[in-house]
Order: sequence, then structure tokens, then C-alpha cells
Amino acid sequence: MLRVVRKFYHLRYNRRVMDIQIFKDNNALSQSAARQFVELANQAFAKRGRFLVALSGGGTPMKLYERLASENLDWTRVHFFWGDERCVPIDDAGNTYGQIKKNLFDKIGATNVHRVESDLEPESAAQAYANALSKFADAPLTFPRFDLVLLGMGDDGHTASLFPNSPVEDAAPVVAVTAHYQDRPANRVSLTPQVFNQAEEVWFLVTGASKAETLRRVLKGERNLALYPAQRIQPERGNLVWMIDQAAGALL
Ligand code: 6PG
Repeated sequence: MLRVVRKFYHLRYNRRVMDIQIFKDNNALSQSAARQFVELANQAFAKRGRFLVALSGGGTPMKLYERLASENLDWTRVHFFWGDERCVPIDDAGNTYGQIKKNLFDKIGATNVHRVESDLEPESAAQAYANALSKFADAPLTFPRFDLVLLGMGDDGHTASLFPNSPVEDAAPVVAVTAHYQDRPANRVSLTPQVFNQAEEVWFLVTGASKAETLRRVLKGERNLALYPAQRIQPERGNLVWMIDQAAGALL
């Protein structure tokens, strides 16, 4: 399994260390990510007794979720949240919770699942989710400092439901969003960089040739937080890891 790890001492990310892990394909990426997920979870168990993870939607991480189902981990100490969710019923193919329930939760008997109430209108769903997050808040924050945040990146440089030309300044930790991307549901709830950038560890999972040019611009091009929301993710003290396949990394 090809795994090239390049550590960047990256001035753009306020002098944070940023890892870029390059894999042959999504299978190899997902296999390694599953192993690193278990390692991180066991470290969090030892330090804090639990592991709070914010999951990503989209197609890329589904292989990882499937692989995690066969990992040996004390799932009773893992709390699942979402970085964003589409406001459609859980049995709608576009609902991320519904997709992950099939690929992972039903197989591991997950008990700590804190999903977005996607049946509500976006504003109400956002408020309800902010309330749910506050129950796990790391004071003085009103939300948890996630042990791990999983994110993807669209061909347009969006991440979670933070789309190009959306407000760069966060209105709140959780926002309601209407955005059109591919054939995916438009009404959404999303965490904002206010939350993502407090996490201990943030992983971007990005694969496919269609992402190569945008990935080059996000990582090596001009800094433009409005145009490339993925650049807004700059963990204040946590680790930022880009897990990509060779196709997505072809222009780096
Ligand atoms: C979503 C995700 C979104 C996704 C990117 C990449 O709900 O769709 O939050 O940000 O991660 O669009 O999606 P792919 O992995 O399918 O390319």
C-alpha cells in the first residue's frame, strides 16, 4: 500500500504542521484511515474516556465507514456527530446519517449517535443540533473540541456545507445553508470553521482526478477563503491531515 507522507511546515496555516498522505487509491486510503481512526480513538479513550468524531457526507468516506465496521474497537465509547447534513428524511438516499447507518452503525450496534434532526426545516434543525452539541461543550466553548473531524472537498473547493462565496466570517457554530451541488439535497445544516478549527485532529479525505486542480489551488495557490472554503479549515492547535489518492494529488 503506497503511503507517502509529506510533512509541511506550512506558513499559510499559521505555521501549523500539515501532513499530506498520498495513497494509490481510495481502497488503500480507507484501509490506512481505518487503522489510524482506531489508534486515535484508543488514545482519546486513554486521555478522556471517550472519542468524539464528526463524520463527513459524500461518497469518498463511505469506504472508510465500511472498513470501520470490521475494526475491533470499543464503540460504546465513540460518539458520532456530523460536520454537516442534508435536510431530508433519513430514508432519503441523500441523507448522510441514513447512508452511514447502513454502512456502519447497524453493523457495530452504535449507541451514541447524535444526528442532525434532518426532518426539521434547516433553521430549526440547526438550532436543535447546536443544543445537542452544547451538551458536550468544552467550556468556555459552546460545543465540543472534537477528537476527530472528517471532511471532504468538492470539485469547487467547498467542504462540509461551506460553499464558495458563502460568508467567511462564521455567524455561529452551526448554520442553516441552501446550496446546490451536483444532484445533492440543497437544504443543509453545517458546522462552521469556528467548530472545525478547535478540533484535535482534522482529516480531509479527497480522491479522484476531478479534484486535482482544485486541490492544487487550495494547497498551493492563492489564499482566497471566500472562493476556497476548504482553506478556512486551519486548526488552531490540532493536526491537519490531507489523505488523498494519487489521482487527486497529481498536480501537487
Ligand atoms: C456532503 C459533504 C461534502 C462532501 C464533498 C465531497 O454532505 O456532501 O459534506 O462536503 O464531503 O462534496 O464529496 P465526495 O466525497 O462525494 O466527492
